[in-house]
Amino acid sequence: MGHLDGKVAVVTGAAMGMGRAVAITFAQQGAKVVAWDLGVTLDGRPMEDNPVHKVVEEIKEAGGEAIAFHGDVANMTDAENAIGTAIDTYGKLDILVCPAGFLRERMVFNMTEDEWDDVIRVHLKGHFAPTKFAAVHWRQRREYGRLIGFSSTAAHGSPGQPNYGAAKMGIVSFIRSTADALVRYNVTSNGVFPGAATRMTDNTLTAQQAIRDGKPLPSTVAGGTPGDPFNNAPIVTYLASEAGGNITGRMFGSSGWTYRLYSDESTVRHLYSPGPWDMDKLFEQMPQTLAEGMEAVKGFNAADVTAGNRGSL
Ligand SMILES: NC(=O)c1ccc[n+]([C@@H]2O[C@H](COP(=O)([O-])OP(=O)(O)OC[C@H]3O[C@@H](n4cnc5c(N)ncnc54)[C@H](O)[C@@H]3O)[C@@H](O)[C@H]2O)c1
Repeated sequence: MGHLDGKVAVVTGAAMGMGRAVAITFAQQGAKVVAWDLGVTLDGRPMEDNPVHKVVEEIKEAGGEAIAFHGDVANMTDAENAIGTAIDTYGKLDILVCPAGFLRERMVFNMTEDEWDDVIRVHLKGHFAPTKFAAVHWRQRREYGRLIGFSSTAAHGSPGQPNYGAAKMGIVSFIRSTADALVRYNVTSNGVFPGAATRMTDNTLTAQQAIRDGKPLPSTVAGGTPGDPFNNAPIVTYLASEAGGNITGRMFGSSGWTYRLYSDESTVRHLYSPGPWDMDKLFEQMPQTLAEGMEAVKGFNAADVTAGNRGSL
């Protein structure tokens, strides 16, 4: 007995990393899977071979059901065809998971328009396009629907990834908006802030330093460790299952062996005026109220890069 017996899922970015782990885990849990991938390099260029076929073979060899779909997650025609493939092949669609994406990392002052547009497109439109066609089906069916988006903690600020961080925060809003829009059709919409040692993280400064130190690429030795991409799959499976039907509009941390529930952003301080703000009064009150305890930012500090260098509260 699997937790997804009888369910049909589309998983984007299913050829590699966490998408692959979700596709394989879903099949192990009884779902029929459309494994969707374009087969691109880390920065989104075409690869010679699309490894999504190997994932489908692996699923079938283990006794599961899966079919490969080649296409671009941010292309509306491909998206309509991918969702249509699930419905035509397996009779319906229950679950959509959206891990597909790539990186073009650059500081904001060096970033080109194309680097901005392409990364926003693949991540943000790469959620909208498949969800739109899944939602048409779910709204007609009014029975069952599960959307699981893949954001990133880069949404909270990432100096070398302003395009990626912005797209990932956009995904949070998209997930919450879709939750509110589709709740009446028995559809839930949640997202994860994932993490794993994949080719994406092999690109980080820490991983590159490991290679210079003669150590193996982290993604090649991640199996069974907290960095294993498969660690993200159980909570995604829960959100996709019947059991997860009471959860919607939520963001979860899914990396490693500790799962997390994130709060929505909420007001942390108020500053009241009985009428339009007087400029001098605001300047006088800000330091003791909204800006209280915020220390001046003292320029670039490499140690702060991942945490953000915004002063502290
Ligand atoms: N690895 C991490 O630690 C980490 C952290 C935070 C967020 N994320 C996010 O999790 C998701 C999965 O990351 P990963 O590390 O497994 O990445 P990965 O590079 O291992 O896999 C991404 C997959 O997406 C596919 N893809 C890219 N563009 C596509 C397109 N236009 N259409 C269809 N398929 C496309 C690629 O071919 C690849 O198979 C991504 O959205 C990533 O931004 C990853």
